[in-house]
Amino acid sequence: MPVRVILDTDTGVDDALAILLAMRSPEIRVEAITGVCGNTPLENCIRNIHLTLSVLDARVTPVVAPGEDRPLVRELAYAGEIHGDDGLGGVTSQVDADGRRTYPDPVQRPSTVHAADLIPDLAGRYPGELVLVAVGPLTNVARAVMKDPDRMRGLREIIIMGGAFETGGNVSPVAEFNIHADPHAAQIVCDSGIPLVFVPLDVTRQAFLDAGTIDHFAAEAGARAVFVRDCTARYVAFHRQNRGVNGCFLHDPLAVAVAAREDLVTTVPARVDVETAGDLTTGMTVSDLRSDRWGEPNARVCTAVDVQAFTTLFEERVLA
Ligand code: RIB
Ligand code: CA
Repeated sequence: MPVRVILDTDTGVDDALAILLAMRSPEIRVEAITGVCGNTPLENCIRNIHLTLSVLDARVTPVVAPGEDRPLVRELAYAGEIHGDDGLGGVTSQVDADGRRTYPDPVQRPSTVHAADLIPDLAGRYPGELVLVAVGPLTNVARAVMKDPDRMRGLREIIIMGGAFETGGNVSPVAEFNIHADPHAAQIVCDSGIPLVFVPLDVTRQAFLDAGTIDHFAAEAGARAVFVRDCTARYVAFHRQNRGVNGCFLHDPLAVAVAAREDLVTTVPARVDVETAGDLTTGMTVSDLRSDRWGEPNARVCTAVDVQAFTTLFEERVLA
């Protein structure tokens, strides 16, 4: 029986790849995709979700619901330099030789139900069954916890792409983007009592997609691989210039893969909190993975990943 999943996303480039992986994983039934501001403004995020789903040309698509368009407390800070001004690597302005949009705006419209209402509704409908995979800032999740804590505790678990535990951050020496974008929301989620699994930079930086692999499948496979090549072109260029690698990190697809195949990762129990006020450390996931002396564990943190198994799974399901 596939696991029921809600994917909460700030659809940027790796989020789009995560959507493709979720929709093409037989272990997962995507009940809904909820959008949140983060990499890009909320309206781009919603469009990008629909555009990515249209690439799949799937018979049945999940409900798409809009969420929060700003963090709980902090100022908005998009990541256009990484994901493009449209959040999808610029593909929304890409044209073919005949001058027509390669990826026209999707005609689908999102649900009128807000993510912070939809998520608890589904958690209440499927108690103990539903897994929430959060691959953007946790603003929607925190709003849902504040609105309806009891039904949210009906979630089987929340898998969070976020944090940096025994490695450096990517938006500061100590903070990872999703947590840093809304640290107050992240702390609310840490205090929620819902089972949490963190998929942090410690493991997502090992989830690497090589530029040569992208080009190979784009030349040999079909439209899905061509879309991956098109939407990752700038994302790869950013990684080349700023991360010194010829490819890109698959942060969000790894979080989805954990929902499908938790055997791909090793986890340790830990107490996790989030710095919300430090001048230098805001957004830091504060935890000691070596011991539980600092409090009862509220999460499991991924500390290792079977890189080859993940890479094969991603290539077979998203690119081939
Ligand atoms: O730090 C990586 C995370 O920030 C990913 O979810 C990426 O999409 C960005 O949102
Ligand atoms: Ca994301």
